[in-house]
Amino acid sequence: MLAIIGGSGLTQFAHLGVSRREVVRTPYGEPSGAITFGELRGQSVAFLARHGYGHTIPPHEINYRANLWALRECGARGIIAVASVGSIRPDLKPGDIVIPHQIIDYTWGRKSTFHEGTDCTVTHIDFTEPYDRDLRARLIAAAAAVGVDASDSGVYAATQGPRLESAAEINRYERDGADLVGMTGMPEAALARELDLPYAAINVVANLAAGRGDSSEGISFEAIQAVLEVSMGQVRAIIEHMVAG
Ligand code: HPA
Repeated sequence: MLAIIGGSGLTQFAHLGVSRREVVRTPYGEPSGAITFGELRGQSVAFLARHGYGHTIPPHEINYRANLWALRECGARGIIAVASVGSIRPDLKPGDIVIPHQIIDYTWGRKSTFHEGTDCTVTHIDFTEPYDRDLRARLIAAAAAVGVDASDSGVYAATQGPRLESAAEINRYERDGADLVGMTGMPEAALARELDLPYAAINVVANLAAGRGDSSEGISFEAIQAVLEVSMGQVRAIIEHMVAG
């Protein structure tokens, strides 16, 4: 069963014939909300709203460990993570969809491993390719099949938030090789790998990153929401096609 973690703009999955919701407790605390189970094109899927169903949990306070643990506990064997991002790469414009292939982690202070405490063995997961190859390929193929012109690669910079970045920070991330910036990609991807859960992301460009647009206007979260509404329809179409295939 695939699980979808929905971000800003995707707090529910409209076409999911919802069969039940389950509140799951984990050794790591409470997930962001109940897990919703349903069917997409005859296939079972699970859905979890990363920021909570009322969008009340900010990126740095999300219990990423509980979310992934709960999804695996409920039978998820792969994760599609949907998240909005700011664009650093000049050819990526608001509304564009990207299947990223790499991550740079700038977050700090988050609970980023299941392997901690004195009675845990030291564990170093391989993270050379942070996203699952097969899931990425399936997403890219599904996007093509439904006629969405998604970018098939991108380096995702995970920032701490909840504030947006300064223009100089964005310039630094670009020098580092980042194409996209978001606040929730880590430690989510690494925790999935620790649990051996194949994980891939689908990013929607909500805005040009700080200092990249008309800087007199700043970044408006209202404008971001409007862009997301349209693109999340495409994201749903991609995921539905992928699940069915
Ligand atoms: N920066 C960080 N996270 C984001 C942005 C951004 O510009 N847009 C959407 N999520």
